[in-house]
Amino acid sequence: MQPRRNVELKGRDPDPAATLAAALAAGAQDHGVLRQRDTYFAAREGRLKLREQDGGGELIAYERADRTDARESAYTLVAVPDPDALRAALDAALGTVVEVVKRRRLLIRDEVRIHLDDVDGLGDFVELEAVAPPTSDLAAEHAKVAELRGALGLSDDRVVAQGYAALLLEAGAARERLVGLARTAMGRARAPYSRFDVGAALRDEAGRLHAGANVENASYPEGSCAETSAIGALVAAGGTAIREIAVMADTELVTPCGGCRQRLAELAAPDVAVHLCGPEGVRRTVTLGELLPLGFAAADLPPAEPAA
Ligand code: THU
Repeated sequence: MQPRRNVELKGRDPDPAATLAAALAAGAQDHGVLRQRDTYFAAREGRLKLREQDGGGELIAYERADRTDARESAYTLVAVPDPDALRAALDAALGTVVEVVKRRRLLIRDEVRIHLDDVDGLGDFVELEAVAPPTSDLAAEHAKVAELRGALGLSDDRVVAQGYAALLLEAGAARERLVGLARTAMGRARAPYSRFDVGAALRDEAGRLHAGANVENASYPEGSCAETSAIGALVAAGGTAIREIAVMADTELVTPCGGCRQRLAELAAPDVAVHLCGPEGVRRTVTLGELLPLGFAAADLPPAEPAA
């Protein structure tokens, strides 16, 4: 099946009533309010979500780059007659990344869909979506989105590059599960010499969570920290970046050792949150940049010699 293509633009909406009025004034047809629940699963490639709406469901597989200009996306839709059963099956097989629940007012103008979205936990957004016929070079779709964007006054400072799932994850939607995984890993630590059990959990760029425990060795320097074990799990599962970190131990305030700060910084940006946890949960959250200021990184290395 040919994937379908869209040109899309999304922005925060400080005044949905005014946007609705502007859309109607621009000639948009009001198609009413839909209640939608999107469940995102931990897919190996691209993104996979189940959309439930008015008792029906569809499975949507897609790729999309996070960008602030109007972006293109390709996706495949599959009708789902029994969304509850499919959600349970995919959750068991792949794991759920996050759920996005929203009320969506749908308007359509000149084949461009206008979504006025009220998203649980995030607030109000306006989204423009031009669905392209298979033969289109997308120029007409970009032009329509640009024109409508002007009519609705969607300024650059309001444009949001990320999807709702990523925004919810950044806002802490995976934090409890991440902490729970760190707790389970801590319970499995192998630390007979120090008797200091540590668990760590990491969220990767696809929303998947990976855990590790410290693994000690009779030859003491050969032991591995929990964070290092978790990095190995993330890389082995296909992850390439760390977006959120939890470390847990039963001490006043556990922090990653110096070596682990360096290893985490190889895959995590300085603004990534590090939750420092006791067995009951998060005690303090800091950023990796706070833990490793002025860190050494690949950018400090000389350029590689060109191949002979
Ligand atoms: N350890 C970790 O796994 N992570 C930390 O953040 C601090 C220290 C481990 C290493 C060793 O197995 C034990 O804790 C005592 O140092």
